[in-house]
Parts: sequence; C-alpha cells; structure tokens
Amino acid sequence: MRFEGRSAIVTGGARGIGFAIAEALAKEGGKVVIMDPGASKDGGSTDHSAGEEAVAKIRAAGGTALLAAESVADHEACGRTVALCTEKFGSVDILVNNAGVLRPKMIWNMPVEDWDVVVDIHLRGQYSMIHHAAPHMRRQRWGRIVNMGSEAWRGTVGGANYGAAKGGVFSLTRAMARELGKYGVTANTVCPAAATRLTLDEAVKEGFRKRLEAGLVTKERYDAVVNMGGPEHIAPFVAYLCSDEAANINGQAFRAEDRKIGIYNEPELKASVVKAGDEPFTQDEIRKLVPSALLGGYVNPAPAEAPAEGEPAPARAAS
Ligand SMILES: NC(=O)c1ccc[n+]([C@@H]2O[C@H](COP(=O)([O-])OP(=O)(O)OC[C@H]3O[C@@H](n4cnc5c(N)ncnc54)[C@H](O)[C@@H]3O)[C@@H](O)[C@H]2O)c1
Repeated sequence: MRFEGRSAIVTGGARGIGFAIAEALAKEGGKVVIMDPGASKDGGSTDHSAGEEAVAKIRAAGGTALLAAESVADHEACGRTVALCTEKFGSVDILVNNAGVLRPKMIWNMPVEDWDVVVDIHLRGQYSMIHHAAPHMRRQRWGRIVNMGSEAWRGTVGGANYGAAKGGVFSLTRAMARELGKYGVTANTVCPAAATRLTLDEAVKEGFRKRLEAGLVTKERYDAVVNMGGPEHIAPFVAYLCSDEAANINGQAFRAEDRKIGIYNEPELKASVVKAGDEPFTQDEIRKLVPSALLGGYVNPAPAEAPAEGEPAPARAAS
C-alpha cells in the first residue's frame, strides 16, 4: 500500500482523469478528498451527484474518500478544502490539480467571460490550491503536486483561453518546483490524452466521421482518435509521481496517453547574436542578422494566405 498514511486532494476528481487518479490513490491506501462541484463541460452549471457517486464508488471498493463540492475558481473554497483534508485526514500530502472545463472559440469571437472562466479554473485554481496547501507541505517537508497541463500549451487553434492557461500551468509548475523543492515537495506537469467527455463526446466523434468521409483526415488518424484509451492509462503514472519513489522528479513536464509516457524538452535559448561595444543593434544589423543567425530552419506555423475571392486585399501601410 504505497499511499498508506497519505492524504490527497484531487480537484476535478468526480469523473474522467481525476476520478481515475483518486481511485488509484485510494486503492493503495491514500485518503482522498475529491474537490469537484460536478460542473458541466463548459463550467456553466453544476450537479453534485457526480462527486457523490465518485466518493460512493471509492468507499464501496474499501477506500476512504470525501467530497468537497466546491469550485477551484473560488479562492476561499480552496482554503476550506485544504482545511477539510487536514482536519479529517490529518495532513495534505498530495495535491493533484486536475479540474478543467472548455470554452473553445476563435479569439475574435471569445467573450471576456469565456477567457476568465477557463483561465480561472485551469490556472488561478491551481495557484489557489497550491497557495493553501504549500504551508502544510513545507512544514512537514513532504509533498507531491501534479498539475494537469495539455498539449495545447504548445500552440492551439480555437482555444486560446485554454492554451494560455495551460502554458501558465507549465510555468507555474516550474516555479513551484524551485520554490518548494528544498522542503521535499515536488511539482510536475502531466499533459494527458484520454477519452473523456471533455475530449471525445458524440459530437466530436461525429465531426471526425464527417472529416474522414470528406477526406480531410486519414483513416489512421480517425481510428487513433475514436479508439483513444481512457483515463485508466493516465492514473498509474500520476500515482507514481505522487509516490516516495518519485522524490527526485521535480519541475518536469510529461506527456501521458494510451500506453505511452513522454517527457518534454527543457525550454532553452536556441541561439543568440551578440553585439560588441555599448551601442544598441541598428535596424540594418537586425534585418541582416536575425534571419540568418537566429531563424535558420524556422517554419512559420501559419503563413499568410491569399485572400479568397471577394475578400479585401492585405492592408498597405498608410502613407
Ligand atoms: N482528456 C484529455 O484528453 C485531456 C487532454 C489534455 C488535458 N486534459 C486535462 O485533464 C484534466 C481532466 O480532464 P478530463 O478529460 O478528465 O475532463 P472531465 O470533464 O471528464 O473532468 C473534469 C472534471 O473537472 C471538474 N471541474 C470543472 N470545473 C471545476 C471547478 N471549477 N472546480 C473543481 N472541479 C471542476 C468537472 O466537474 C469534472 O468532474 C483537465 O485539466 C483537462 O484540461 C485532458
């Protein structure tokens, strides 16, 4: 029982990946607080029964679990949940920041509310949970923090709120690793891929079927998407990061999916040009040096396209 005597909070633990993680920790003796109000996919409404059922399932299997039916977007509620965990279970040793919602739109159609809801749950919520849990972990000189990221942090289309929040998660984790590491607390990011209601509902499958029929995706890609493995492929790796064995794994970003675990590169300065003396670069030097010395092999991820028939020509500089 790897987690005997350990207590954990799993946000968004009522379903999907979070539930699989809560179950995995509880199965090995961990006492788990599921913090989840049972939000709809877009976070617009809540239904506590999802969390109640999750807790009942863990208990029925012999595990120990409690529900905090609260939102990570509420800073005070995060404090209450950490207090609940320490009062009922004696400590907070493990924090899995997993709660998430989606509100996809192109930036020009995205109302500020959709930006705020997504960033508040994915990024600010992780800050709030760590803010409240860190003093306990620091004091006891033991803690494990796993922050759920996403491949979207590398650049996405139609979900800038989500991608930006997940980029923030990546940086938040790296900062936490450095602030808390010396107290025996580790922080890592996991970017999962698993079939859940967030990623693979009927509408998504139908969309992919249409794209296959229209020749827009290959059969290989279609099969890979519709047969994507479930959350049970993510939980064992997250549990490993939460264990004693992972004491020296800190500040890393991992990819976890169906029978595959990967690690991302460290973000490093790739190349630089340096000017001798005290003067700033001139415009002429920049024009010459940047394309040749910095951008060798570079590919624009979205080059400008010619306007379609009837669309206005590209704007020219005003004279
Ligand atoms: N499924 C994937 O392939 C995938 C890919 C990349 C990233 N992720 C990330 O993994 C995490 C889990 O996603 P999932 O696919 O299991 O989704 P899911 O929708 O199945 O589960 C998300 C859970 O978060 C809860 N939640 C939503 N708002 C909350 C809030 N304000 N406070 C607390 N809980 C809240 C929901 O009620 C739900 O139970 C998310 O952070 C998501 O961004 C998932």
